Amino acid sequence: MPDPWPRSARWTSAGLTVGGRAAADLADRFGTPLLVIDEADMRQRMRAMTSAFPRVAYAVKAMTCAAVIRAALEERLDLLCASGGEVATCLRAGAPASRVLLHGNAKTDDELTAAVEASLGAVIVDDAQELDRLGAIARGAGVAQAVLLRVTPDVAVETHEAIATGHAASKFGVPLAVAADVARRASATAGIRLIGLHAHAGSQVLDVDAHVRVVRALLGVAADAGIRPAIIDVGGGFGVTYTDETPSDVVAVAAALRDELDANGSDAALQIEPGRAIIANPGLTLYRVLARKQAGGRNLVAIDGGMSDNLRPALYDARHDVVAVSNGNGPTEQVTVVGRHCESGDVVADDVSLPAGLARGDLLAVAATGAYTYPLASAYNRFGRPAVVGVRDGEATLWVRREDVDDMDRLDVILGTPWGAGALPTAEGGART
Ligand code: LLP
Repeated sequence: MPDPWPRSARWTSAGLTVGGRAAADLADRFGTPLLVIDEADMRQRMRAMTSAFPRVAYAVKAMTCAAVIRAALEERLDLLCASGGEVATCLRAGAPASRVLLHGNAKTDDELTAAVEASLGAVIVDDAQELDRLGAIARGAGVAQAVLLRVTPDVAVETHEAIATGHAASKFGVPLAVAADVARRASATAGIRLIGLHAHAGSQVLDVDAHVRVVRALLGVAADAGIRPAIIDVGGGFGVTYTDETPSDVVAVAAALRDELDANGSDAALQIEPGRAIIANPGLTLYRVLARKQAGGRNLVAIDGGMSDNLRPALYDARHDVVAVSNGNGPTEQVTVVGRHCESGDVVADDVSLPAGLARGDLLAVAATGAYTYPLASAYNRFGRPAVVGVRDGEATLWVRREDVDDMDRLDVILGTPWGAGALPTAEGGART
């Protein structure tokens, strides 16, 4: 099957298969909704990145679970974390602290202190004040913390506005106009060891030139500051195919960025932080049809999940391809696949072509759901977050078990306290027991 499906996805007499397993069998065994990750595909994409770029950190936020974190480490990627929580999970998964980087536009003192105490590979500093706070914490601990300085590159990219980060008004990074000053200050701050400059222009970016402009902006800052950064980190953001997008070839991107460094006489090592480009396409989600109806001229097919396991359509108007797992070459019809949440915006795929006459119990697969679905999943309506299964060479392994109501209720302190006889008023004002 072509992009956007996992590389091992095939049509067989058993319908859709992935990783050598029939999707229908996976759904029967693990239940639905089910996030299925093609492990070989994921690892291939990791390797493609590490062979094209000298330094690659997997953006853990795209899919945060130990199986993916460990695979990234095994494939020689470092780990980019967006919070102390992500750092903690990576360390618990067995990551050496030296291979963990922490970024974020507003870090707490606890996060900075924990980063220094753990000796993280680098902290990506987002503003001058944070630089001072981190310097003080590191001096207090008697160490020099390795730092990348994040710059707002003032590079506009074509993507959904919620995931554009490099424009001048962005909340991320040090504004370009003062970046050289802050870089100089970083070089002179005790407790800080400035190892490079960082920027991230946005996510789901298909235009290679955006990344080239980021390199140019960072080298401009370095020149103004009179420093020679060892690392130039262009962030992540490499776009993928959701329906019909054409992503840039990784090798071509690497060459274009290297050329820009060479043209400016820089011998810095290029660092990238891909998330989506590694894990989006190896993932698909299986759902079962629960209901269907016609409304306002539309054929609505309601499935057993929705915005609590994939918020992307609601949040970014994202489009994902959908197929019926049993395929069938018969007639098709246009349908809108909706979730079962109490929200009209809970649409998984609007106006897609699927086999005519889909009925309750039929299975659907939604493509390219490996990135930013599970980490954005919520407990809304108490469905529970889906299970995550890795498939490879005919083996299916449960990576994350399905969340149930007990898991969700565990945090509700009042739920666990006694509440019984006499607590409920009756209509007459007396107590009902
Ligand atoms: N580096 C930094 C500093 C980032 O902020 C991000 C993502 C990445 C790397 C990884 O970007 P990627 O290669 O995955 O595009 N939830 C949104 C995406 C938010 C991206 C946030 N930052 C979505 O589902 O489209």
